[in-house]
Amino acid sequence: MPSVVVVGLQWGDEGKGKITDFLASQADMVVRYQGGNNAGHTVVVGEEEFKLHLIPSGVLYSGKICILGNGVVINPGVLLKEMADLQSRGIDTSGIRISDRAHLIMPYHPVLDQLDECSRTVGKIGTTGRGIGPAYVDKYARYDAIRFVDLLDPDTFEERLSQVLGMKNNLLDKVYGQAGLDPQKIKEEYFQFAAELRPMVTDTSVLINDAIKKGQKVLFEGAQGTLLDIDHGTFPFVSSSSPAAGGACIGSGVGPTKINKVVGIIKAYSTRVGEGPFPTELPDNLVSLLRDGRGREYGVTTGRPRRCGWFDGVIAEYSVRINGVSDLVVMKLDVLDKLETIMICTGYRYHGGIIKEFPASLKVLAECTPIYEELPGWLCDTTKAKELKDLPVRAQDYLNRIAELAQTPVAMVSVGWRRDETIINQQIW
Ligand code: GDP
Ligand code: IMO
Ligand code: MG
Repeated sequence: MPSVVVVGLQWGDEGKGKITDFLASQADMVVRYQGGNNAGHTVVVGEEEFKLHLIPSGVLYSGKICILGNGVVINPGVLLKEMADLQSRGIDTSGIRISDRAHLIMPYHPVLDQLDECSRTVGKIGTTGRGIGPAYVDKYARYDAIRFVDLLDPDTFEERLSQVLGMKNNLLDKVYGQAGLDPQKIKEEYFQFAAELRPMVTDTSVLINDAIKKGQKVLFEGAQGTLLDIDHGTFPFVSSSSPAAGGACIGSGVGPTKINKVVGIIKAYSTRVGEGPFPTELPDNLVSLLRDGRGREYGVTTGRPRRCGWFDGVIAEYSVRINGVSDLVVMKLDVLDKLETIMICTGYRYHGGIIKEFPASLKVLAECTPIYEELPGWLCDTTKAKELKDLPVRAQDYLNRIAELAQTPVAMVSVGWRRDETIINQQIW
């Protein structure tokens, strides 16, 4: 039975939350495999809107097992607050499980993330300030990292903390001229977190592999997007994890032979939050065409206005290749309903030639000019469409062009933020 990865194909915020929730209605288990509370996944149920940062977007259905895999960096205070907020809205959070191998975000991680960004005059990444980068740095540097399994053993935690905090306080003092953090306060706070979270911590790889063996449906929910991937994104303007579909294996402890499908989520246009290259970005005077109205392009985590631009076919083809996308889901088609003409980028012009492959070098990318095709808008409401054939012919043509550029058929189209504003062309499960 299928295991399906949901992955963002652009710079995040493609609508992964909506599609994860949609597919989760039939899933037994939903697994986050990377990132942390830098993510902001929106799910709209009736008149209610939920913004999830750490907890998998399957949590809104009772009875699903929702896993935070080993690849996620977890701020336990944020997790408990998110759980409490959901419980206060009547959501059952008893299905949440946390990998004993997941790394902790400690209080110095967000502090260092923000100080690092503020101290740079050039080369700012525009991070979410949630401590994601510093937590992954500690993980890969190895000496200073603390995992959930350490948190559950008070002696180990205390020993690790005293070792690490000396170094971090030194850094805060000597590099940034800031007061250090109090070890006693952190210890008390984290022991309290441990007491509350202990029943949820387990070897989640066993749970996931057992579910797959039993033929259950497992959904892996990517956060961020392919162009924010540490290896495949617009480095260094990326996040510090592996959102690409391959990250689902590493970040949850399942082998590649266990993944059956990769569902690529792509907006009908492009957005990006934070710094970094964006070839098809619209100038300030046109950005409201996409950002405002039904676009509502403001960050879920930081509230920052999202940069907006036209659909980029070079990126679509690149991300489909990197992730091995089997099913394409095009989001937010309705946002284009009122546009008279729509531009679509089919390649980059570079030094008189044409590049079809997304370049590694940001210097090359900066010298690329998008080659646009102009398509006529459909100028009518698409939100009521239930099947592809209900869409105006011009909207169908636009989707066909996206599928052609991405070299992948369109499995689903989203025409609004609600669950029922979704067109299914090809069943995923
Ligand atoms: P995620 O991070 O990929 O889960 O995406 P976000 O939640 O950050 O951003 C997607 C935004 O678009 C949210 O406000 C969703 O409610 C909204 N949304 C999702 N699908 C559609 C759609 O088809 N049309 C419109 N207009 N909004 C959508
Ligand atoms: P979801 O899961 C959009 C961006 C930040 C910044 C860069 C690095 O909702 O799609 P970080 O705090 O991760 O070190 O910031 O990555 N970023 C996102 N942009 N959606 C996200 O998540 C993002 N998570 C991080 O804006 O440019
Ligand atoms: Mg988001």
